[in-house]
Amino acid sequence: MNYKVIRNEKYDFLGQSYALSYPNLHKYPATMIPQIGIELLKELNISRGKLLDPYCGSGSSFASGLECGLTEMFGFDINPLAVLISSVKFTKVSLNALLEAKAKLRESVFEFAKNEQNNLPLPNITHLDFWFSKTVSQNLTIIKHFIDRIEAENIKRFFLVPFSETVRDCSFTRNNEFKLYKMKSEDILTFNPDVFGVYFKKLNDTLDIYATVYLPKLTEAIKVEVRHTPFQPSEMEFEVVLTSPPYGDSRTTVAYGQFSTLSNEWTGIDYARKIDGMLMGGVKAKQLYTKGVMADCITEISQADLKRALEVSSFYEDLGLSIEQVARSVKKGGKVIYIVGNRTVKNIQLPTDQFIAEKFAENGFKHLITYQRTLSSKAMPSKNSPTNKTGKTVSTMLHEYIVISEKQYPCYDPKG
Ligand SMILES: C[S@@+](CC[C@H](N)C(=O)[O-])C[C@H]1O[C@@H](n2cnc3c(N)ncnc32)[C@H](O)[C@@H]1O
Repeated sequence: MNYKVIRNEKYDFLGQSYALSYPNLHKYPATMIPQIGIELLKELNISRGKLLDPYCGSGSSFASGLECGLTEMFGFDINPLAVLISSVKFTKVSLNALLEAKAKLRESVFEFAKNEQNNLPLPNITHLDFWFSKTVSQNLTIIKHFIDRIEAENIKRFFLVPFSETVRDCSFTRNNEFKLYKMKSEDILTFNPDVFGVYFKKLNDTLDIYATVYLPKLTEAIKVEVRHTPFQPSEMEFEVVLTSPPYGDSRTTVAYGQFSTLSNEWTGIDYARKIDGMLMGGVKAKQLYTKGVMADCITEISQADLKRALEVSSFYEDLGLSIEQVARSVKKGGKVIYIVGNRTVKNIQLPTDQFIAEKFAENGFKHLITYQRTLSSKAMPSKNSPTNKTGKTVSTMLHEYIVISEKQYPCYDPKG
């Protein structure tokens, strides 16, 4: 494979944030700015056909697709919070119906809370008292109770987005970190959030962003489907894949599962505590991954630390399998665009960009180009500690790579 990397400043978007043009409806770690996807789709002349994002997070690639005229977009993410955010963002719901439901919810919640005798059983959340004060738990339970009574699924789901953020903000977690860490005890003493106030303010903000940024773009022609399970190659064929996969396993890079645990538990996901283990690289491999471009790096890491080398192996094993599956669902001539960072483990920088190009090449693709961009606003954990602090960019990972390949063969027939 003739592997070419070109530094391309056009994709830096230095100083631009997600919020600038496409404010998110909910915080999410390591989001991609949609401006990058828009520019890439334009450069590749892609304005029609089905788009897939196999690790869709909060759905930034759908924002890119929408802006470039794509009407059919499909996404998958193991994390239910990601599925919730991205499906709410791109589902058309009547604004009047949302406003009516809001008024009704407000009235029911305050009416119920007025009577101190009213009581609801608290939900079964792991270590509930450790993460929430009694009053906060009771008030969150009241809101959730009345959200659950909303009949229209689309509206109920919409109302769960600000609920999920309220859960995070009113818990004893240190909110500026991705991992679950408890506040200092002196901070807890003075922490007394007004749960209803926080929720209805967030609901108003969510409605505002949805009504002004997303809803106007969601014409009848637009179809965005986001799932908890992958698309099977036999189900559908895609013209383009636009995605930013994780950089490494969740435990030592970005803890998507931990970030979402409390939200997922409160919204009824019974496997919330297991999600980090289900994500890419979540189960430690039994053997070292010693194929292709990763072979030397993983062997070198294993000489310093076998356990780390097995963790790293599991990530590339999973990423490779996932690429195999994605590759099979792309049409002949279809493009795949993966935006990824090369993390450093034990001082060895792992060439994830090359790994992706190599895997697609093994699965019937031709590598077209890899662009290198300077990483600006993506919130990433710091280099030496896996504490996943928001806003810290990694000193060793100042660049991201945009890997672009094209399918050479029709689906199911790698020999053409
Ligand atoms: C870098 S984030 C994507 C962010 C997204 N582009 C955005 O702007 O919000 C990577 C996503 O991959 C998901 N993920 C990790 N392992 C996965 C797997 N095996 N299958 C599907 N999704 C996975 C994580 O839950 C996370 O949402």
